Amino acid sequence: MKLKKWIFVLCSFLASFFLVACQSSSSSSQSAVEAIKQKGKLVVATSPDYAPFEFQALVDGKNQVVGADIDMAQAIADELGVKLEVSSMSFDNVLTSLQTGKADLAIAGISATEERKEVFDFSIPYYENKISFLIRKTDLEKYKDLDSLASANIAAQKGTVPESMVKEQLPKAQLTSLTNMGEAVNELQSGKVDAVHMDEPVALSYATKNADLAVATVSLTMKEGEENAVAIKKGNSDLKEVVDKVIQKLKDDGTYQAYLEKAAKLTEVEQ
Ligand code: ARG
Repeated sequence: MKLKKWIFVLCSFLASFFLVACQSSSSSSQSAVEAIKQKGKLVVATSPDYAPFEFQALVDGKNQVVGADIDMAQAIADELGVKLEVSSMSFDNVLTSLQTGKADLAIAGISATEERKEVFDFSIPYYENKISFLIRKTDLEKYKDLDSLASANIAAQKGTVPESMVKEQLPKAQLTSLTNMGEAVNELQSGKVDAVHMDEPVALSYATKNADLAVATVSLTMKEGEENAVAIKKGNSDLKEVVDKVIQKLKDDGTYQAYLEKAAKLTEVEQ
């Protein structure tokens, strides 16, 4: 009799312990938003070498990270009622910073690809763009079709979709993978590479700023549904809800478009 009672006590103790453990672990994974509010800041990882989405510019005498994505990040922070902290790094580190918990969101003109969706959650898309080749203006006639690019020396940013598109669709081309976009463009201007593959708005931005550069008329095939979206750590669904709500509004009322226009003006003071 006594033994039965003890077993009962022990079992109920274990059961309640298990319940409490379960509850606390599920609540900590549920409340990404709570954690951000407690910290009082939203940490956003980005790679500021991609105007008009994110870049560095001299504003009020200070070198600051600006761009349409950064304005959008600010709108998300405002919705959460916290401060925005922009954490700059090279693009190949942006997504990993979500896994290590260093950032709450990754916003860097990131294409929501199927591979990435396996590892991260993505917001609804906020921008749909093409991917193009930036070339020297004097080569506009030379690089008119894919055959002419097949054996060219092409640069792309490490870890990006434009990089993997070159690998897959131009396997004979010589690919130069660089961590920094600006560096790739310098290589193009100095003649070390023949083309740089990147998101079209970014290529257009470089071409507008540099009279010696132009966007090629030929382009590779893009996969469907790879629009730009905000990356979120898998499972942080309450945070995704807030982000989606903000994006929907910025798209519907034309604010994201206005952010892009503001960013285009700021490229005049790009650093
Ligand atoms: N859209 C491309 C991708 O997701 C390139 C993004 C590069 N972004 C940047 N901020 N440098 O792979």
